Amino acid sequence: MKRNAAKEMLNKTSTLLLLSLVLLLVQCSNLIGKAKEKKVELTPTSDTAMETYRTTGKLIVQKSFETLSGQLLQAIKTGGVPHALQYCNLKAYPLTDSLSEAYQVDIKRVTLKPRNAANQADPFEKSLINTFEKLAVNNLAGVNMVVRDNEGLPVFASPIVVGKLCLQCHGEKGKVIADTDLKVIERLYPDDQATGYREGDLRGIWRIRFQETQ
Ligand code: HEC
Repeated sequence: MKRNAAKEMLNKTSTLLLLSLVLLLVQCSNLIGKAKEKKVELTPTSDTAMETYRTTGKLIVQKSFETLSGQLLQAIKTGGVPHALQYCNLKAYPLTDSLSEAYQVDIKRVTLKPRNAANQADPFEKSLINTFEKLAVNNLAGVNMVVRDNEGLPVFASPIVVGKLCLQCHGEKGKVIADTDLKVIERLYPDDQATGYREGDLRGIWRIRFQETQ
């Protein structure tokens, strides 16, 4: 009898031990999950400040995009792709400088696959692009983010989505990009990575960095 009772005790203890082990494992995997999440987690700014940065960021992007795509279209109409190449560049527009000055911001377009190496996303910007990429929404165009970068500066980010107009210079080689145009592009940008896109793809992001530290 005594032996049985002892055996039962032992059984109970091992069941308890097993249970705690399972619990521990569950907790651990939760923690690991959290740690993983934390890696991509981006620090949001305070609510009111965030809304101000968001409104300003949206306005800057909208004005820049409208100017850029309007001029780009016009340039293609006037002189075809070779003539228009210089217009897909923020430096071509005095508007970018005046917006930077008026709002004390740094305006950039960055991407994982740059045509101009100066537009290569840094690790922080990559994490922003990856976050947009992971969002399984139909219309990325309406989405944006306000976060603080590694130095604590507020950053507004919004996606750059490939439209029809973009394909003749960023679409698939041998299909949408005319061979003669491709030759010009490759001559100017021997390390070009910015082709092969389809309509609706994420091309990169607008990255508007504000000055204030709070
Ligand atoms: C006429 C050809 C042309 C068209 C059309 C065009 N681009 Fe570009 N794009 C370029 C060139 C050339 C560059 C490199 C500019 C530079 O030297 O900074 C570029 C650069 C970019 C960049 C900066 C990142 C990088 O790869 O250097 C983004 C973002 C971009 N294009 C998006 C677009 C989008 C979105 C459209 C459609 C609205 C578009 N482009 C249409 C030629 C074009």
